[in-house]
Amino acid sequence: MNDIIKGKWIGKPLDRVDGPLKVSGEAAYAAEHDIDAAIGFIVESTIANGSVSSIDISKAEKVEGVIAVLTHENAPKMKPWGDGADDRFQQSHGVLVDAAIRHYGQPVALVVAETLEQARYAAILISVIYDEKTPKLGIDRDDSELADGIDGGLEETNRRGDFEKAWGESDLTVDLNFTTPHMIQAAMEPHAAIAEWDGDRLTVHNSTQVIDWGVGCLANTFGIDKNNIRLLSPYIGGGFGSKLGQHYETILAAAAAKKLDRPVKVVQTRRNLFHDGPHRSRIEQRIRLGATKDGTLKAINFETWSTQAIGHPFTEGPMASAANAYRCDALHWTGKTRETNETINDSMRAPGEALGGITFEAAIDELAEKVGMDPLEFRLKNEPAEDPASGKPFATRDLVDCLKKGAEAFGWDARPKEPRSRMEGRKLIGYGLASAIRGNMMMEGSCQIDLSSSGHLTVRMDMTDIGTGTYTILTQIAAEALGLHPDDITVELADSDNPTTSGSGGSFGAGTSGSALWNACIAMREKLAKAGGFNIDPDGIAFDEGAMQAGDRSVPLRDVLKDSDGFSAEGSIEPGDEHDDYVQNSYGAHFCEVAVDIDTCEVEVRRFVSVFSAGRILNRKTARSQCLGGLVWGIGGALREELWLDERTGGYVNRDLAEYHLAVNRDVPQCEVIFLENPDPKSNPIGTKGIGELALCGAGGAIVNAIYNATGKRVYDLPVTLDKLM
Ligand code: MOS
Repeated sequence: MNDIIKGKWIGKPLDRVDGPLKVSGEAAYAAEHDIDAAIGFIVESTIANGSVSSIDISKAEKVEGVIAVLTHENAPKMKPWGDGADDRFQQSHGVLVDAAIRHYGQPVALVVAETLEQARYAAILISVIYDEKTPKLGIDRDDSELADGIDGGLEETNRRGDFEKAWGESDLTVDLNFTTPHMIQAAMEPHAAIAEWDGDRLTVHNSTQVIDWGVGCLANTFGIDKNNIRLLSPYIGGGFGSKLGQHYETILAAAAAKKLDRPVKVVQTRRNLFHDGPHRSRIEQRIRLGATKDGTLKAINFETWSTQAIGHPFTEGPMASAANAYRCDALHWTGKTRETNETINDSMRAPGEALGGITFEAAIDELAEKVGMDPLEFRLKNEPAEDPASGKPFATRDLVDCLKKGAEAFGWDARPKEPRSRMEGRKLIGYGLASAIRGNMMMEGSCQIDLSSSGHLTVRMDMTDIGTGTYTILTQIAAEALGLHPDDITVELADSDNPTTSGSGGSFGAGTSGSALWNACIAMREKLAKAGGFNIDPDGIAFDEGAMQAGDRSVPLRDVLKDSDGFSAEGSIEPGDEHDDYVQNSYGAHFCEVAVDIDTCEVEVRRFVSVFSAGRILNRKTARSQCLGGLVWGIGGALREELWLDERTGGYVNRDLAEYHLAVNRDVPQCEVIFLENPDPKSNPIGTKGIGELALCGAGGAIVNAIYNATGKRVYDLPVTLDKLM
């Protein structure tokens, strides 16, 4: 185990190093860079399937300030959508390449003007005549073209054990059908881009989670070399998966800048991004569970039906929650999907477990009740010794510790034993719990560090900070490894000229970039130790307070640095064999209390106690913030969030934050977050595991289980709104 880490900086609840820049407005988001750019405004398709038969831009072109109107008839040449790469993030995202319409809201024109007002006004003067076909929308279990499809590292089907046999041997069963609705991330900072060309060289400032994939996408879209692209995204106002890839604003800004030979800025309006950014699609889920009388879980069968957008292969897999959770004789799943004219659907915060953490954890509760067991006891009884989906060993496993610790901290003992058994005034009170499990991923990354002769360290990589606190945790890692003060460290991120990393996604960012940096620091320690005249293993030297010390010998770094040109080092990381040989997860347990008004059926989440185990915690403040965010998402997912698809048009009816209901301050109670800090040496050199998405997994499950405990009623069609509970 890594015993260089003493916790002087790593783990400390350090304030965000970029905090002052953020709150003073100096941290420029994508649209805020001081570049003299023309402004593009997107004109969206009002049909979901068919083609543009004619488009009249003559009135728009005459508006004062309008510079150009791009349509499929005059846009610079781009590769067709899907060209150049197999993966959906790097394939061509060519737009305005032809007259075809695949989904509602797809851009049919971009008006470019000197000001936003001019562009927006001109946009309404454009008239489009469509050749409209009936859109293919929604889930259809009988579609002859239904295909197998699951994303997120899961096999498309899993057949472990004999389900029919185990089901037959079960004394008690549940067979439940859930639906989860279309949802959307709608990050605080909308998708935005400023693009400029210098000959063949393209520079883009936008809001993106993974720089390298973005460069790949732009290269494939415009048919240019990756080396001719510079992509920058230093500050990001939230992504949640919606910025894993590139979207229309970036492609259109680059296309218009190329045509006009001047910088162009395009910002998606809040309403745009409900159609032109990705979203989470509606999923139908059938969950069958069987157990014997003594509460032994025998059989799990998890089937899903969903949709994918044309040319954008992604299908979310809620069965991820069942994959690694509980011991059982047989675990089967299948995911079926069909291509439709719905808008692009892609990863949204904790894809898979975010949904399964509600539905599967609700099904487990329902089975526990049939068996007549407390849902905590049922979960503890069915703790697996090995991974149920694969039979592989777990790298670490402390779900039981999370459940026990949470139960104690919450006071689970005082749970109402029967539904509808506790009232306060005209409110029914209920307690609920759910397990949290999220796969722990590692990716490849590399890092460059430079220590100047004056003792200032600069860290460079193309990693992003999507609001999670990356700048801060990387500062802490370097400070810990090299014995520097955080004030003497500058972290430079999200520039494609820097060494390549995984970026931020799948909760793999901190572990991957942090480990690459750690390895660079280890290489730096060797160089400094040598320059300081130490002839021992650098691991045996304490780097602290700007000095190297071993035995009775202490050498200040400034003595080594002062006559040098400074020192540089590189480090990289890739997932080790432990990520193949073991099943790696982060774990947690949620406990919550709800009060349900018997007159209005309003649900109030009164308190949350959640325990998380995500390896070493790099910063107890930013980690806690990530977890609080997950709980808020859980409230939204269980009680509020739902996009309504208009089946006549294929567009969404409630395409703004007034009508798309997120959990707001009024909905969020006091939340207690407890960490089990168990560094995991099988995960990476710094012992961290993914934490960003963990807290969302199961948070909604604890709420729906608490609602059942309060009311005796289960709602299988999420979200649990008061009309359904009535
Ligand atoms: Mo995450 S949904 O992979 O940003």
